[in-house]
Amino acid sequence: MFWTYRGDPRMWVWLTHRVTGVGIFLFLLVHVIDTALIGWGPDLYNRIMALYHHPLFRVGEVLLVGMVLFHGINGLSIIVLELFPALTLRYRPFLAGVIGIFLLLYLPSAAIMISQMMSPSASHSFQNLPLKDSRPWLIALFPALAVFSLSAPTLPTLPYLYPRPVEKGMEFYGWLFMRFSGIALIFLAFGHLWIMHLVDGGVERINYQFVAERFATPFWRTYDLLLLLLAMGHGVWGMRSVLMDYVHHPIRRLLALWILYAVSAIILALGALILFTFQPHPQGS
Ligand code: HEM
Ligand code: HEM
Repeated sequence: MFWTYRGDPRMWVWLTHRVTGVGIFLFLLVHVIDTALIGWGPDLYNRIMALYHHPLFRVGEVLLVGMVLFHGINGLSIIVLELFPALTLRYRPFLAGVIGIFLLLYLPSAAIMISQMMSPSASHSFQNLPLKDSRPWLIALFPALAVFSLSAPTLPTLPYLYPRPVEKGMEFYGWLFMRFSGIALIFLAFGHLWIMHLVDGGVERINYQFVAERFATPFWRTYDLLLLLLAMGHGVWGMRSVLMDYVHHPIRRLLALWILYAVSAIILALGALILFTFQPHPQGS
């Protein structure tokens, strides 16, 4: 399937947007569950949060922030191109601008996160990890990527990447929701990552006490509820498009979509339940 995507930069951007969208959605499913564990008291929650402080997870977090930034900025650029189609005639400079904005935001963010995890006060020492063993693999990755991108055939024609449904029905409102929720998520998801990673020492300070203090104010509960509803809604509608592209057999498609809806509904309900009912533990620390 990947072979068809070489050629026009739009196909690479489209593929990256899809891979980052699916990746963020899968992370979100796990993340709502780990947040819900706060309902089981400080011991369990603090043990789970220690994972977020682990150096290997922190490398993953640097990548995750990059994925959210890329997906968000590129998502916004899709909306801008739809509003001003004349810009497609100057697509390459436009794309250079999108990548420029992404790097402008991502490079300082990644630098802050890496400096936090290298800091001597970090709860885990990065020096103790057996990273040396994986170095040959990392080096092999670059030639492999180069061979892959050179050997993939070019796609002869470009389909219109995100077609706007003509008739006013479910597809049209879904399409509209993806755009409005995307714009709201720029503020909500970027703001969330800013608070969790870039200020006051980042993830190092996240524990039961930190979350309990935030949940003491209705503002942060409402913020998280909006983030939960919009990210899950946007992610589910996006995943629906992805599944419909790859699963064609009618029964298998129905099954795949129902699994997506059922799993997402259960996780959404769990996340909302915690936000509505959380009470701090008497000995919470
Ligand atoms: C940060 C702000 C975000 C913006 C501006 C944004 C924007 C967009 C846009 C414009 C699309 C194309 C919609 C279409 O298919 O017609 C899209 C697709 C998608 N988004 Fe987002 N999004 C954002 C955040 C998220 C988040 C947090 C998730 C995951 C929970 C996500 C998951 C997806 C998925 C899975 C797709 C489908 C990709 C595809 O069809 O190739 N997005 N997004
Ligand atoms: C590794 C990066 C992240 C960290 C360290 C992190 C941390 C946290 C923490 C500590 C909470 C608890 C509530 C609070 O204090 O507000 C939380 C809740 C939440 N986060 Fe994140 N977050 C990360 C990434 C994300 C991303 C990328 C998204 C969305 C796309 C997201 C969506 C949410 C939602 C919806 C909740 C509320 C869950 C609920 O209780 O229902 N987070 N996050």
